[in-house]
Amino acid sequence: MTIGFLTHLYPWTKAFHVMSLIAWMAGMFYLPRLYVYHCDLQRGSTESERFKVMERRLLKQITNPAMMATWTFGVLLVLTPGIIDWSAGWWHVKLLMVLLLSGFHGAASRWRRDFLEDRNTRPQRFYRIANEVPTLLMIIIVIMVIVRPF
Ligand code: HEM
Repeated sequence: MTIGFLTHLYPWTKAFHVMSLIAWMAGMFYLPRLYVYHCDLQRGSTESERFKVMERRLLKQITNPAMMATWTFGVLLVLTPGIIDWSAGWWHVKLLMVLLLSGFHGAASRWRRDFLEDRNTRPQRFYRIANEVPTLLMIIIVIMVIVRPF
């Protein structure tokens, strides 16, 4: 019964998976960018406090729920019969990249806390480089799911 239900819902599950991953990616691209700008600001300044509010809202109101939704719909897709071939290489690479992306999300949350408590010591260059990580992971993931090279 559950199986038939998921098969019936498949296009909808996939549509919601894609909608949520767009929101998740938006947060993953923009949070480190906010940290790049935040590095330039004087601790305790009005601008710095405003950045703290933007960072909190972006993480808590958009990025965290979007990650949870992406995982939920992704797992429902995995549970849909006939969708995943566990012997396919592309799927394992995608899964690894998604785990790395989730780890990056965790790191970005910890960096936000450092800014919040005015104890960031990482240089701006660190966040500029970190900013490229989600882009790279997203490119690999999309090639894996769409091109399926192996
Ligand atoms: C969070 C854990 C995730 C899981 C468990 C997961 C799992 C899945 C599964 C099982 C499918 C269905 C594949 C098919 O229909 O053949 C799918 C589709 C897709 N996933 Fe994910 N996914 C996750 C995260 C992501 C992320 C982060 C991205 C992009 C950055 C992504 C991009 C896509 C795309 C574009 C499709 C549609 C592919 C198509 O048209 O067939 N997924 N995902």
